[in-house]
Amino acid sequence: MLKTLRSVVALRKFDWNARRRRLATCGNIDDLRRLAKRALPGGVFDYFDGAAETEWSLANNTQAFENVHLEPRVLVDVSTIDTTTTVMGQRLPYPFAFSPTGFTRIATSAGELDVAQVAARHGVPYTLSTLGTRSIEEVAAVSNGPLWYQLYVWKDRGLSRELVQRAKAAGYKAIMVTVDTAVFGRRERDVRRGFTLPPKIGLETFVDGIRHPRWTLDFLTHEPITFSAVSGRGDVDGSTAITLSDYVNSQFDASLSWRDLEWVRSESGLPIMLKGIQTVADAKQAVGEGVDCIALSNHGGRQYDGSPAPIELLPAVMDAVGGNIEVLVDGGVRRGADVVKACALGARAVMFGRPYLYGLGAAGQLGVEWVIDYFTSGVKRTMALVGARNLAELGGRATISSTGSKSSARPS
Ligand SMILES: Cc1cc2nc3c(=O)[nH]c(=O)nc-3n(C[C@H](O)[C@H](O)[C@H](O)COP(=O)(O)O)c2cc1C
Repeated sequence: MLKTLRSVVALRKFDWNARRRRLATCGNIDDLRRLAKRALPGGVFDYFDGAAETEWSLANNTQAFENVHLEPRVLVDVSTIDTTTTVMGQRLPYPFAFSPTGFTRIATSAGELDVAQVAARHGVPYTLSTLGTRSIEEVAAVSNGPLWYQLYVWKDRGLSRELVQRAKAAGYKAIMVTVDTAVFGRRERDVRRGFTLPPKIGLETFVDGIRHPRWTLDFLTHEPITFSAVSGRGDVDGSTAITLSDYVNSQFDASLSWRDLEWVRSESGLPIMLKGIQTVADAKQAVGEGVDCIALSNHGGRQYDGSPAPIELLPAVMDAVGGNIEVLVDGGVRRGADVVKACALGARAVMFGRPYLYGLGAAGQLGVEWVIDYFTSGVKRTMALVGARNLAELGGRATISSTGSKSSARPS
């Protein structure tokens, strides 16, 4: 009996690392999101997870991928799969990059450094946000991978110039100008919680802190969180708690227009990506302005709620501008298959934000590693299953079954 039992039961080796043990129970990004929810105080999780107003765009971004279908070819030798692509002249090992996310240090004290280090180990581009909580130079010091710098243009143009020049001097390879944030979207979860940066400690946050001792200890035993881009400038560095919307609306330039792009380019001499294009008309205008690359994005649903899902917009944009500009898709990417779908519809690459934030919040660097492994294996597996040996072979092999519908209906 013992022999039979031994032949059918294999005991799992116990992993003494609790975080790795928990990660091993995750099948997908939703599972990782649940782990992050358990590990982080409610206000921090909601800041990462939430979006603007009804959060319709947030949900639609992900659901829209379900309407895209790849054409699976069989009997193709897929023993070797090439996932490489080029974006703005840089060769990337996989067709994905990390979107910029502000205030990453509210997940772990190392924050952006944790994410950038893991990204660099895999050659995945990491984009540092203007609202980052680690400086341009700190991130460059821990990364030997591709780095991009995301710019919100300040009312103080001198400050914008300084940031762009610091990024160039530190070896960043592109400037990503976010163009969907003329004013700040209303994120109602943050409004309800009175969320500020750095977080203000009230009774509710205090109780939440006790329920998340690991996070609280990390937070309390490290230097205060400030906006590193302007560190030391007491008026704007976030050393006094402020809501994000008050900060953005008071500091960033709502008058920014197409005319200003040439200024950004001439200041940096780096390739420019516009992130936040939401219409065919603006994609065409970007081509006319000589922009190198655009990211179709609605800021993960955090700005205009009602903006189309970037993946839905992609075919029309490719019809209008394909071949004249590089197009990326950002928002709602939750599986390797989503990455492959976007590439099949013509995107050079995709970007994602929340997935790596969930990983970081759930398990620090280990969690971000999990996310990269999940996406790289997912991309390779999907390409093998649809019989594509490289990204070029995906061309024209995706269809969208229903577009522009607010019902987000699944295909019948
Ligand atoms: C917590 C958080 C902070 C963000 N901060 C910024 C930012 O500082 N600058 C920016 O251009 N986009 C920012 N974004 C938007 C992301 O760059 C990206 O567009 C979005 O996360 C993509 O959607 P996904 O989270 O579904 O992948 C942020 C997103 C999140 C979730």
